[in-house]
Amino acid sequence: MDETLIKRMTMERLVRPYLVIAALAALFALTPERGTCMERKPVQLPQPRIESGVSLERALKERRSVREYRSAPLTLAETGQLLWAAQGITSRGGFRTAPSAGALYPLEVYLVAGEVEGLPAGVYRYRPAGHLLEQVDAGDRRHLLCDAALGQRWVRTAPAVIVIAAVYSRTTEKYSTRGTRYVHLDAGCAAENVYLQATALSLGTVLVGAFGDGDVQKALSLPRDEEPLCIMPVGRR
Ligand SMILES: Cc1cc2nc3c(=O)[nH]c(=O)nc-3n(C[C@H](O)[C@H](O)[C@H](O)COP(=O)(O)O)c2cc1C
Repeated sequence: MDETLIKRMTMERLVRPYLVIAALAALFALTPERGTCMERKPVQLPQPRIESGVSLERALKERRSVREYRSAPLTLAETGQLLWAAQGITSRGGFRTAPSAGALYPLEVYLVAGEVEGLPAGVYRYRPAGHLLEQVDAGDRRHLLCDAALGQRWVRTAPAVIVIAAVYSRTTEKYSTRGTRYVHLDAGCAAENVYLQATALSLGTVLVGAFGDGDVQKALSLPRDEEPLCIMPVGRR
């Protein structure tokens, strides 16, 4: 065999592993947000309050879908209170603020933070156990989510957006096809809790059901088995 050809083949064999390593390193460098998010410590939310000056009857009377918000951030306490209303744990046995068929809890609640005091913009998963937020992605995703919601402006202008997603199998494994109905009922209960809690905090929200499922999944980097069911922008009235 030609000597130069042998030399070239040997060089290629020696260099190839380094090229693979360099390519992998470049890939990680291009996705720093995900890399750092994985290591970020969960955010402990302030203890939810269980007293308020607003009666349940008043909140029911005043509840309205609100689509215009003042340009002002939410506090971490308000944000935590809303998430707690959606799926917070309220008993030693793990029961939650919202009922769930068979207590199977198929819902996953996300926070898309834009302007929340003390919380960098990003996508967070609410962990009912511990009342924590885990960062899923960094950066402001409200624009993407607004596009996914067919351009509904309030999804972009709200300081924070709650997204309720579901893992259907948690409920359908027990209840078969009827489980699908139960998951939707679970989500409706959680969403109404958010509405009433927002009203009691003098905040406004609206349940947005018109969106592209795949686009929301992409905007929030949702796991494959989680399907978005409703989007709830929240802001000051
Ligand atoms: C399942 C469901 C889907 C909805 N989808 C949207 C939506 O995509 N965009 C929107 O602005 N409002 C949406 N709404 C809010 C309704 O328009 C609103 O509840 C209705 O107009 C009654 O007004 P109220 O909530 O102030 O009583 C939705 C409500 C429900 C229950």
